[in-house]
Amino acid sequence: MKSNFKIALLGGTGHLGIGLAVRFAILGHDVIVGSRKLEKAKMKANEYNQILEKLGEKPTIKGLANEDAAKQADISVFTIPWEHAFATAEFLKQALKDKIVISPLVPMEKRGKTFYYSKLPEGSAAEKLATILDSKVISAYQTIPAEKFARLNEKFEWDVAVCGDNDEAKKIVIELTNQIDGLKAYDAGPLAVSSMVESLTPLLINIMLRNKLKDLGVRFV
Ligand SMILES: NC(=O)c1ccc[n+]([C@@H]2O[C@H](COP(=O)([O-])OP(=O)(O)OC[C@H]3O[C@@H](n4cnc5c(N)ncnc54)[C@H](OP(=O)(O)O)[C@@H]3O)[C@@H](O)[C@H]2O)c1
Repeated sequence: MKSNFKIALLGGTGHLGIGLAVRFAILGHDVIVGSRKLEKAKMKANEYNQILEKLGEKPTIKGLANEDAAKQADISVFTIPWEHAFATAEFLKQALKDKIVISPLVPMEKRGKTFYYSKLPEGSAAEKLATILDSKVISAYQTIPAEKFARLNEKFEWDVAVCGDNDEAKKIVIELTNQIDGLKAYDAGPLAVSSMVESLTPLLINIMLRNKLKDLGVRFV
């Protein structure tokens, strides 16, 4: 695997985006924060760079509109709420053609006090993304608690199930993920099993809410 990737975090201005952006930048990857608005992307990139500088790292993160971020990247992560991700995918289809796209999307809804996994006709959010894009879609990161992940001084040991139909792309995502201290990635099978992984997130949230816990991830032991 090459040592340096250009990684775009589409909608990387939100909860999951910040942790991935800063952690990938510390590892020496070229990180681009994408947003619907260029100004917001630049503002967030500036904010993330300040975090890097405080850690004594070079402020290398760029902010671009999602389309330019997707065009420049080798690997793009859809750090966008699932309801909005598919329209964004239609819009970015050309820019993402033949590239690796990571889906952390979790379709879920709240009924009463309980969260439920929202089944999609395509099978899962990652599979729906794959029907829209001509890209190598890899499903990963659904069970990473974003807020704890964003706090760089936190210690954690979380496993990441990675699914996908392109073996080479899946291997790259597994190796990339394993570079992040505290994450251990496993090959969980083809994209067709992504719903199993996606549905772990509402399960984790329900356990947290009912047992007054925070930041639960998963470990396969
Ligand atoms: N939060 C978690 O703990 C967590 C953990 C694992 C996986 N995930 C998954 O990761 C994805 C991102 O979650 P998040 O919590 O980071 O989301 P978020 O903070 O709510 O939103 C991320 C970004 O999405 C963009 N966005 C919002 N509405 C949009 C629209 N209509 N069209 C296009 N972009 C839009 C916004 O960026 P701009 O305004 O800059 O465009 C926003 O900053 C979700 O699919 C979620 O299921 C989340």
